[in-house]
Amino acid sequence: MHSVSNPIAIDLANISKQYGDVTALNDVSASIYDSEFFTLLGPSGCGKTTLLRIIAGFETVSAGNIQLYGQEIRDLPANKRPVNTVFQQYSLFPHMTVAENVSFGLQMQGRDRAFIKDRTAQMLELVQLGSYADRKSTQLSGGQQQRVALARALAPEPKVLLLDEPLSALDLKLRQSMRMELKQIQKHTGITFVFVTHDQEEALTMSDRIAVMSNGQIQQTGDAHSIYTDPCNLFVADFIGEINKLDATIIERFDNGGLCQLGDGVTVECSLSESTQQSEGQLCIRPECLTITSVDDKRSSLQGEIDQFVFLGTDTQVSVKISTGASVLVRVQNTSGSQLDAKTGDQVGLIIDPGSARFLDS
Ligand SMILES: Nc1ncnc2c1ncn2[C@@H]1O[C@H](COP(=O)(O)OP(=O)(O)OP(=O)(O)O)[C@@H](O)[C@H]1O
Ligand SMILES: [Mg+2]
Repeated sequence: MHSVSNPIAIDLANISKQYGDVTALNDVSASIYDSEFFTLLGPSGCGKTTLLRIIAGFETVSAGNIQLYGQEIRDLPANKRPVNTVFQQYSLFPHMTVAENVSFGLQMQGRDRAFIKDRTAQMLELVQLGSYADRKSTQLSGGQQQRVALARALAPEPKVLLLDEPLSALDLKLRQSMRMELKQIQKHTGITFVFVTHDQEEALTMSDRIAVMSNGQIQQTGDAHSIYTDPCNLFVADFIGEINKLDATIIERFDNGGLCQLGDGVTVECSLSESTQQSEGQLCIRPECLTITSVDDKRSSLQGEIDQFVFLGTDTQVSVKISTGASVLVRVQNTSGSQLDAKTGDQVGLIIDPGSARFLDS
């Protein structure tokens, strides 16, 4: 686990990258701490790989500065940086055995033979491939190849490991178990990880902190919990998890919140960040923050008619058409013994968890 008292490993200051007319990165700043598992999360084309390549030294910046442990490295060539990268295509050397792949970087460093042997064995134990040392890398499953790629990147003891969507080629089960393994390895080695993904679940489960990116900019940086519960704008709210968005107008502002009006005269109390200037926007509520109740329950803020049930295993998603005409999704947990006492067409009320309705304007 990182701590903000740790030194800053990577300091990105106002990084921009232009490819002709394309702005791949637009004034990106972030501080990544030593021993942190830091994730760049965002949709395709938002600039994640570009930023990673800039940290690695494979790409130059158009503007901005980048420091590694306090040292300016903007003009330092890639092979002089204490940084290693794991790519989506693991690109193992096919003619080499697993052990030869892992020891490759150590040989490049000119380490002595005994050290290389020990270190290679140690890395293979770490990724649980101790008994595969003499296999050809082509004789491995996708997950095993990915672990060899990881061992190879970790062997030369980089201070920072960059990982560009390293799990995306794996099937779901393997991806899930590799998430846990990666997180364990990161903790165990204390190496700073900068991990790139477009998969929000991956980001939420592994990261100490996440930077949510879109259009070449970091929209918000924080731990999984704060980004999920306190998104700074509609993009972040939408990209992380599911959220209901209802057209709304702020009609009153209080000290730490406000009252917004939906169509049809329905009003709802909501939280409101200080930066929210406009009065037109969206009322955002997570599906799990809504509870279905009887239509005349005084605690309910919204009323509507049940539209549809979708059974999802651990929970059921209920769609409710509210009086404004909008559809709202509600998540109901399928705990043992409990069953939702409602059916399609029923008139119901919806209780909003205190503090969970948030107004966002852009
Ligand atoms: N060498 C290049 N020349 C021109 N444009 C580029 C180049 N590399 C990237 N771009 C553009 O820069 C933007 C950011 O690309 P980047 O590869 O960083 O996105 P990404 O977030 O990694 O996306 P993905 O999730 O699809 O991998 C895109 O619009 C891309 O088309
Ligand atoms: Mg990419």
